[in-house]
Amino acid sequence: MPFDVEAVRKDFPILAREVHGVPLVYLDSANTSQKPQVVLDTLTDFYANHNANVARAVHTLGSEATNAFEAARGKLAAFVNAPDRNEIVFTKNSSEALNLVAYALSNAATTIGAERFRIGPGDEIVVTEMEHHSNLVPWQLLCQRTGATFRWLRIGDTGPDGGRLVEDEIDTVITERTRVVAFVHQSNALGTINPVSRLVARARAVGALTVVDASQSAPHLPLDVQALGADFVAFTGHKMYGPTGVGVLWGRYDLLAGLPPFLGGGEMIETVDMTGTTFAAPPHRFEAGTPMIAQAVGLGAAVDYLSALGMENVAAHEHALLEYALPRLAEVEGLRIIGPATAVDRGATISFTLAGVHPHDVAQLLDEGGIAVRAGHHCARPVCVRYGIPATTRASFGVYTTTEEIDALVAGVRRVGEVFR
Ligand SMILES: Cc1ncc(COP(=O)(O)O)c(C=O)c1O
Repeated sequence: MPFDVEAVRKDFPILAREVHGVPLVYLDSANTSQKPQVVLDTLTDFYANHNANVARAVHTLGSEATNAFEAARGKLAAFVNAPDRNEIVFTKNSSEALNLVAYALSNAATTIGAERFRIGPGDEIVVTEMEHHSNLVPWQLLCQRTGATFRWLRIGDTGPDGGRLVEDEIDTVITERTRVVAFVHQSNALGTINPVSRLVARARAVGALTVVDASQSAPHLPLDVQALGADFVAFTGHKMYGPTGVGVLWGRYDLLAGLPPFLGGGEMIETVDMTGTTFAAPPHRFEAGTPMIAQAVGLGAAVDYLSALGMENVAAHEHALLEYALPRLAEVEGLRIIGPATAVDRGATISFTLAGVHPHDVAQLLDEGGIAVRAGHHCARPVCVRYGIPATTRASFGVYTTTEEIDALVAGVRRVGEVFR
């Protein structure tokens, strides 16, 4: 089935609205995606017909809610090809999923049976210079708590194939001292798709754990956790056409089963008395308190929606958009793409600067023409520091993006340049 973008657009009610009297051109999906009607309907149906707490209530609604929540877990497992649905931990978002791993590792310091996860002085944690703060700050904090050393892989210059990791340094930065390698699959600031297998292979060779931040790849590429080969993979529902307030940590079952919990509370225990607590098996060990029930069910509907489109088709559609957009944007006078300038190993998120115009002014003027883009450091400030710029303007595409919208973006940016010149 060819990808029918006009049919897809009809699934997203918000795309019918106008902004400043003109049709909305939504090019900010890397920030958060819009939601198809089926996700909105699923949320309404859950609250209208099945709402109850999960895993606690014995009444009918309680079991309906529990079944819907656990069915969503199964859908997420299938979506990322996880071998076991109990490897899917629901979190608030990617940030919480990544913090969960970092805190569980430092909680190992005082947990009998978790000795193999202990991290301390002399150990090293490696990230990359292109991480979102959500996959950078938790590891800096882990280093502060444990005395481990924080290290990173650098990014190269911009240019035709710039904005990529300096791969020559992988073997010297990831060493026998490395305990964790945490890296982004697809950069939200640069669009770069990182060499996962190369990084995982090196980490494995030195016995380090790998944590992949798939926040920007899960909505756009077929994501297969078994093929990635990493130990943990985090992603967030709201960027993949699901609701806000729900994310996922996938982890290898044996690792999840060995890690101590991050948060304590209801439903994560095996037994509690006044002298101590033993913990439930994964995933419940990591889901303290009432979970994000409706949101998880909504995310289940979102991955059903994506699976019906076919992730190979989604990836091909967005790749075609990227190939269309890159040369057209590059032709705009004064425009510099921050990130790879070719469509190879790259997602459809394009950051750029425009000579003589602040990135926020570009975004503001585009908004006046109905075009929604993001400006700032995109929570990946070291990328801006690396390239000596305060911020970028970023256009990011999704399943509903059209070439006409890219034409509108190019024309809009050109107009902004003319106004400032
Ligand atoms: C690459 C990357 N990692 C992590 C996050 C954090 O996602 P959330 O804010 O949903 O936790 C984002 C969000 O922009 C992101 O782009």
